[in-house]
Amino acid sequence: MVQIAHKNKLTINAKTGIIGLLGYPVEHSSSPLFQNRAIETMGINAVYLAFSVKPENFEEAFKGLSALGAIGANFTLPHKQSAYKLCDECSPEARVIEAVNTVKFKNGKAYGYNTDAYGIKAAINEHGKKFTKAKVVILGAGGVARAIVTQAILDGASEVYIVNRTVSKAEKLLESILNNCRNLDEKERLHPIPPCHAVGYDQIANALNEANILINATSIGLKKTDAMLFDPKLIESSTFAYDTIYNPPQTRFLIAAKQRGCRKTSNGLSMLLYQGAKAFELWFDRKAPVELMRQQLMHPRAFS
Ligand SMILES: NC(=O)c1ccc[n+]([C@@H]2O[C@H](COP(=O)([O-])OP(=O)(O)OC[C@H]3O[C@@H](n4cnc5c(N)ncnc54)[C@H](OP(=O)(O)O)[C@@H]3O)[C@@H](O)[C@H]2O)c1
Repeated sequence: MVQIAHKNKLTINAKTGIIGLLGYPVEHSSSPLFQNRAIETMGINAVYLAFSVKPENFEEAFKGLSALGAIGANFTLPHKQSAYKLCDECSPEARVIEAVNTVKFKNGKAYGYNTDAYGIKAAINEHGKKFTKAKVVILGAGGVARAIVTQAILDGASEVYIVNRTVSKAEKLLESILNNCRNLDEKERLHPIPPCHAVGYDQIANALNEANILINATSIGLKKTDAMLFDPKLIESSTFAYDTIYNPPQTRFLIAAKQRGCRKTSNGLSMLLYQGAKAFELWFDRKAPVELMRQQLMHPRAFS
């Protein structure tokens, strides 16, 4: 068992800053553990607390945190879209995604960000991959897919495919993202919008042909009994395969990619890690202790 020491112990006093995590439910979240470990280790006088907030109470809770002088907050399901609507200003990616998972309160204003988008970018960078000039295939058209498609387009992918069981959902998602991208000003949109396609699994062969990056952003794989959504023989060995699911750490999708000869694969723990690290940096204006946060996520019981 890995044992990891941390030297600073938080003392709560009259100056302790608050970061809130608002979700419903929220009890399952690992963010309080790894954020508090990072805060403590960096010797910051702050505390990260989870609050279970029903949707009908969300606006009051958001404004309450601001009124209390909180440093910032994270939002998880089902509050990311509501948080977006309540922010005074939002970063470009949050405006395209129309969802905010991180807010910083400053001078009475709420600044919104979507660090899930940064999270996937940093996660693939870790494997020497980037969206720029890549053919990117995203399976799924839910909230997580929305952040990934946005980051792929903003980073200058050469072509983007969204493959989803319900094609109309993929089409709607793509239309909304493209409209929002067109509304960014020139300084915010550094790359031309690439060809993008929303298709069903009947067209996945086209999508996977010479794909550089393939990302599973569906919930298929959460259960060990989940079947593959398509014929794994279509995965090419040169494709980098990333599964946003991290529990279980090995999904059928990742096993299939490895069996097809993909040398580079990864589960979604790194995306979770980097979205949290970016939020930490936004709140505290300093580098996050990424490796410590990773260890805390990987070995939650190893810290004394
Ligand atoms: N690594 C991270 O940081 C992180 C963070 C959050 C979530 N996640 C993971 O991301 C995944 C997606 O989350 P989300 O919030 O985007 O979920 P979501 O909004 O509920 O979307 C789920 C997606 O899965 C598809 N799907 C569900 N059942 C299916 C089936 N039987 N066959 C084919 N497609 C199916 C849905 O297709 P339809 O549109 O056809 O229903 C939809 O595209 C989750 O598995 C979660 O574990 C990772």
